[in-house]
Amino acid sequence: MENIKEKIDKLIEIINKASLEYYAEDNPTLTDQEYDDYYNELLRLEKEYPNLKRADSPTNKVGGEALDKFQKVNHKSPMLSFDDIFNEDEIINFDERIRKVVASPSYTVEPKMDGLSGSLIYEKGILVRAATRGDGVVGEDITQNVKTIRSVPLKLKKEIDIEVRGEIYMSKSSFEKLNYQRKQNGEKEFANPRNAAAGSVRQLDSKITASRGLDFMAYFIPNPEDYGIEFQSDSLFMLKELGFKTNYKLNKVATNYKELIDSIENIGRERESLDFPLDGAVIKVNSLDDEKKLGTTARVPRWGIAYKFPAVEVLTTLDDIVFTVGRTGRITPNAVFSPVHVDGSLISKATLHNEAYCKEKDVKIGDVVEVHKAGDVIPEIGEVKKERRTGNEKDFVMITNCPICDSKLTKKKNEADYYCPNNNCPSRKIESIIHYASRDAMNIDGLGDKIIEDLFNFNYVKKIEDIYKLQSYREELERLEGYGERSIDKLIKSIEKSKDSSLERLLFGLGIKHVGKKTAKILAKKYKTLDNLKEAKLEELTVIPDIGEIIAKSVFNYFNQDENLTLIEDLRNYGVNFKYLGKEEKESEFFTGKTFVLTGSLEIYTRDEAKEIIESLGGKTSDSVSKKTSAVIVGANPGSKYEKAKALNIKILSEEEFKEEVEKIK
Ligand code: IVH
Repeated sequence: MENIKEKIDKLIEIINKASLEYYAEDNPTLTDQEYDDYYNELLRLEKEYPNLKRADSPTNKVGGEALDKFQKVNHKSPMLSFDDIFNEDEIINFDERIRKVVASPSYTVEPKMDGLSGSLIYEKGILVRAATRGDGVVGEDITQNVKTIRSVPLKLKKEIDIEVRGEIYMSKSSFEKLNYQRKQNGEKEFANPRNAAAGSVRQLDSKITASRGLDFMAYFIPNPEDYGIEFQSDSLFMLKELGFKTNYKLNKVATNYKELIDSIENIGRERESLDFPLDGAVIKVNSLDDEKKLGTTARVPRWGIAYKFPAVEVLTTLDDIVFTVGRTGRITPNAVFSPVHVDGSLISKATLHNEAYCKEKDVKIGDVVEVHKAGDVIPEIGEVKKERRTGNEKDFVMITNCPICDSKLTKKKNEADYYCPNNNCPSRKIESIIHYASRDAMNIDGLGDKIIEDLFNFNYVKKIEDIYKLQSYREELERLEGYGERSIDKLIKSIEKSKDSSLERLLFGLGIKHVGKKTAKILAKKYKTLDNLKEAKLEELTVIPDIGEIIAKSVFNYFNQDENLTLIEDLRNYGVNFKYLGKEEKESEFFTGKTFVLTGSLEIYTRDEAKEIIESLGGKTSDSVSKKTSAVIVGANPGSKYEKAKALNIKILSEEEFKEEVEKIK
């Protein structure tokens, strides 16, 4: 017995620590699976030994505590969440439990969105307050931030007073875009869309929230009786009618456990192809009378349950831990393992973030580890199967010197990351050249990571400005293995073309710390030429709207370092344009604010490329055709979307025509 008590105490300690990190600090240290395992083990023990259940057990609580940063708000009624279940038997049990109270129940089955829940309050149809869940009783006032979310109506279609609850989330595509930008800017990437959403909605500066592309899916009206509603399915319908985004295509009504399982499986099948992150399905009793009959326990409602999809567990052996050096010099340990298929892609590497992460995971070379995709996207190491150790595993050892240039690594106090301080470190140089040539910077087609590495190793391109010397080595290059006359010819042409890029691309490409695409554009617009910016005073930079002190300092310092000034003069001599051409905005009218649907198999671009191009030009993409669709881009063998577009008289573009529109802008 004593032993069990200790076990319970230990579990509570682990769960409380993890909850604080997850809810209050947006800094999870356990994977969902690990957290769920601890939580379920605690639930199991408390069930088995009810007299050992502690009054302060986290199984009595709903979530974490609200932080002080935002105003606190009391929820009108508690924002609860459901108990989680994980398999068919538990679905059948749930249905049986309900049937003990309700003779012939019907249920709604809805995707379980993987974000954070929010409460929106409307008065006379106007959004007046938005809050996070917080601890379920007291949340944080995030009204200013929520107002920036496109899918949140500021005004409803009816002038009513109503509270609406739903999930604030980040779509998978926004998440990938955000992490791509963060990587480019040398910032830490988010581990999954849920953390990204939580981090974005709790920004004190709502402009940052606005730039993150958050979304809101409505799923609950706390007091439906006020509107004469008798069923949850009608609540969902009303929410849609009021102007909210709902999962109306996936939300289903089921009347027995077989239908429950079918509907959940249907959501599971669609999961991969959907742009929003979901981690299961939520089952709710449909009739609100029945809901009342069932009521709520001290902790959770009895009238609903959350089914969580099993995390796909794929095991592999950790062959090695290798260290890479980013453009800013940041050192990242990476797990290298025998390739495994996870959710449709072959994976052989996963980030191990930093030393602290490796130590906390206690990962060793030779360990059997579980691999999954965090938030459906980024490969990550899950559980380390310590019970499978043979004793031949090798401890993780953090390096002290740069793996590339051998400089002694540096680490700031209170920061987790080590840095290579050598500005001339080959790896940092290669990364900075890759960044300069990348699509959002100088967009040099044909100059990808692999070629840059080759050109660097063969001593053709040792620094950014060397790119423009390449044409004088044309013949030598053509003789390199794997590069023919045609590919070199194409490469030289795109290098030449890059010289005409507008200033914001160049500024972004220079890789000035903290200068992302948006900042580059602001600076280019304001200063018009690189020389004007080069001469700008620190005080002047600091007062530009949207440019804080940190960015201003970083820009100012950049233009005060000799090697950067040499680079700039070299670029000038090679004929690189230093002026803001202001072209992109004017000419992207075709795309800005429009919604495009892609269908059929594309041949010129991959689907992701086409989507990225549309988004980079200010447009949006959608998976389904509706009256709101601006145009449908049709590849070979198009399906029903093409038929629907024709029926709705929506503009249809061939892939070739789409390409022409894109090229008009370049
Ligand atoms: S209804 C009493 N519907 O998953 C619970 N929740 O435990 C009222 N969630 O914390 C919430 N999708 O953040 C509801 N369609 C959905 C949901 C959903 C995701 C979240 C919610 C809640 C947890 C359920």
